[in-house]
Amino acid sequence: MKLSLTSGPASLGALDVPLLVLALGAGDGLDAAMTPLDTTLGGALSRSIERRDFRGGRDETLHMVGNTSGPARVMLLGLGKPTDRTSALRRAGALAARQASRMGSGELSFYAGALTTTEAEALAVGLAAGAWEYTDTKTPPPVDERRAPLARATIHGADIAAVELGVVSGSAIAEGHALARTLGMMPGNLCTPEFLAVTARDIGERHGLRVTVLGRPEMEALKMGSLLCVAQGTSEDPKLIALEYTGGAKDAAPVVLVGKGLCFDSGGISIKPAQGMEWMKFDMCGAAGVLGAMESIARLGLKVNVVGLIGSTTNMPSDTAFKPGDVVQSMSGKFIEIINTDAEGRLVLADVLSYASRYKPAAVIDAATLTGSCVIALGHSASGILGNNAALVQEVLGAGTRAGEPGWELPMWDDYKELIKSDVADIRNSGGRPAGTISAALFLAEFAGDFPWVHMDIAGTAYSESELTTIPRGPTGVPVGTFVEFVRGRAG
Ligand code: BES
Ligand code: MN
Ligand code: ZN
Repeated sequence: MKLSLTSGPASLGALDVPLLVLALGAGDGLDAAMTPLDTTLGGALSRSIERRDFRGGRDETLHMVGNTSGPARVMLLGLGKPTDRTSALRRAGALAARQASRMGSGELSFYAGALTTTEAEALAVGLAAGAWEYTDTKTPPPVDERRAPLARATIHGADIAAVELGVVSGSAIAEGHALARTLGMMPGNLCTPEFLAVTARDIGERHGLRVTVLGRPEMEALKMGSLLCVAQGTSEDPKLIALEYTGGAKDAAPVVLVGKGLCFDSGGISIKPAQGMEWMKFDMCGAAGVLGAMESIARLGLKVNVVGLIGSTTNMPSDTAFKPGDVVQSMSGKFIEIINTDAEGRLVLADVLSYASRYKPAAVIDAATLTGSCVIALGHSASGILGNNAALVQEVLGAGTRAGEPGWELPMWDDYKELIKSDVADIRNSGGRPAGTISAALFLAEFAGDFPWVHMDIAGTAYSESELTTIPRGPTGVPVGTFVEFVRGRAG
């Protein structure tokens, strides 16, 4: 169920809500707005803090039953000693919403003292993220065993106008996150290239974006031999999807967001081990991020021209599949020797990056679950960031930080180019295991025309194989926040 977010005043004592969440930092006492509530609760709040039952540590929670009037339940939630209150609130929001969903309160109110618009926005994004769940392919439990999903949340603050602004923009960003996560979670037999195209058309219709979808014949006409070789092993029609949002001046150069949309990556003839192969349905999280970001950008009405580009197919072994040793010619004219059919993402992106040139972009950012090496290098806490323009790299890193989606730059030194030299072609598609994320990015760089370009390797950050405090196993919403924050930064 979709979470509906609203703003409310900082008067808590008589709030008649099923659950009130009070967020406090480490060592914080009650503030003036909490005192009347403490009275309603017979001093339970102040006693809990005095006794140090609740200390405000990060992720710490203390549940209390309310009195006969006022909130039915109260939850104290710790923010820890945040260096960055915005990200602490985003996290707290997600945690609160997850607790509320488990409880079945259906609704919650959240109070964390004074909030700026930025803080309220982060809190709204967090609350919506915590309330998100994927239930489309599950039979619901019997009616008497169901718990109410979290449907409504109110963010309370003294400056209600500031909070309201944050709630509005936070809701827009949350929509994009939710869309990206739902697409990511969808099984590969349902979330196909065709389904991504249908989703793009739906976004286009709702927000007045121009949407173009190319299939196999159109890509053949454009000589996209690099993308098409990956699609050779499947009867499914590959799709190149373009969404054009014109929020800026008519002739202003657009920001182009590119996403890898492998609806399933079996590895092809260089097939992956069976163990864990099901996770490769998430190999379209870059594409999902582009769709989610376009949804949010349109809702926010950002005054920038933005093009979303998706290269989508499924990497399968078959008698028609491409194979190691093959040489293909990309749209750019460059010949590519296939060493490993499992290094397919860069082949898809190569032609999409060539296609991006037609927009004369101000900047191009691609997001792709591109290399297992990136997970080895940076784990699940940071995306790999590489690019051909130092200023743009910093801009993307900054956007990621603001969105709570950290990135870390890896070098693109010429020395590493040795890894992808070919005996028979201009370049080869795999440089082996050492510096795998870097050689993949250097491969892409050969196809990123003369525009500023940044690549985000989101293999470790777009989804989680383990349950996290704030999100269940599955997609995280990365890179929606980074994309939206980047474009918002360009809107000035
Ligand atoms: N989609 C995978 C990368 C991946 C691996 C994403 C694990 C998320 C988790 C990509 O297509 C791939 O298979 N890359 C290969 C490249 C290699 C053959 C050069 C890899 O990382 O092993
Ligand atoms: Mn692969
Ligand atoms: Zn892949």
